Amino acid sequence: MTTTVTIANQKGGVGKTTTVVNLAHALALMGKEILVIDLDPQGQAATFLGMEQSAGAFYLLSTCIDPAANPLMVLRQQTRSSGRERLYLIPGNPLTNMAQTMLNASNAPVSVIRRILLPFISNGKPDYVLIDTAPSVGGIQERAMWAADLLIVPTLPDSSSLEGVRYIVEVVTELKKKDWGGKLLGILPTQYEERTRESRASIDDLKKTFRGLVLPPISDRTILRDARSRGQTIFEYDSESQSAKEYMTLAELVRKETYRGR
Ligand SMILES: Nc1ncnc2c1ncn2[C@@H]1O[C@H](COP(=O)(O)OP(=O)(O)OP(=O)(O)O)[C@@H](O)[C@H]1O
Ligand SMILES: [Mg+2]
Repeated sequence: MTTTVTIANQKGGVGKTTTVVNLAHALALMGKEILVIDLDPQGQAATFLGMEQSAGAFYLLSTCIDPAANPLMVLRQQTRSSGRERLYLIPGNPLTNMAQTMLNASNAPVSVIRRILLPFISNGKPDYVLIDTAPSVGGIQERAMWAADLLIVPTLPDSSSLEGVRYIVEVVTELKKKDWGGKLLGILPTQYEERTRESRASIDDLKKTFRGLVLPPISDRTILRDARSRGQTIFEYDSESQSAKEYMTLAELVRKETYRGR
């Protein structure tokens, strides 16, 4: 079975896209086949991977709103090779906004993205679909979260971010009421500065509130920005770095999760 992993937080700049591309490459290096779907109109997943943005996500969503469409064909048509073994991307661009308007206007159910992915999920290839989302709470985010078997919520380790995480955990509670069969894998502190008191205190706060749901943090490292600006993952830029090890640890946690089915 394919495992769908959605990365979401309505707050901007918390490391969602950084996590998507590096987790994707880590899993690919473990021998898994990965499809990243960029559902953020900023289209950054492509940029971070050194690729061109395109209207792939727009075509996928706008065509497949129609229950008579053949999602498998559209998924295949819009999938681009990233030039890395086993790592593929359906890119996004600003047109994704229009797909969101169409989803909302047609009252597409919360399950619509999951339904579009079903031919993949039941096929078991790719092994993982990773979904990047926009920093907002439009109709795509909720549907992308519902599509997830595993949900990861990156957050900055500062006091002002705690509210944002609380909010998204409330959304998860709402999704469960709508028969969501996925699981919140955890809250991922990013840009963690071990030496600053605020970073440490905020991890303690997160642990007090969310207990076992707090994942091992990703440290604040300029190297991640440098890799991004070159269109490389951390495994290409410096595979021996601490950041590479931290993202590999996250990939191992994802891999250990067995598919829970629904
Ligand atoms: N652990 C880290 N250490 C240092 N810089 C980081 C780290 N994680 C992300 N960044 C940088 O922070 C910025 C924001 O990261 P990113 O684009 O991944 O966040 P995002 O949540 O996807 O943003 P948006 O909400 O706009 O989509 C980028 O410049 C990225 O290179
Ligand atoms: Mg992003």
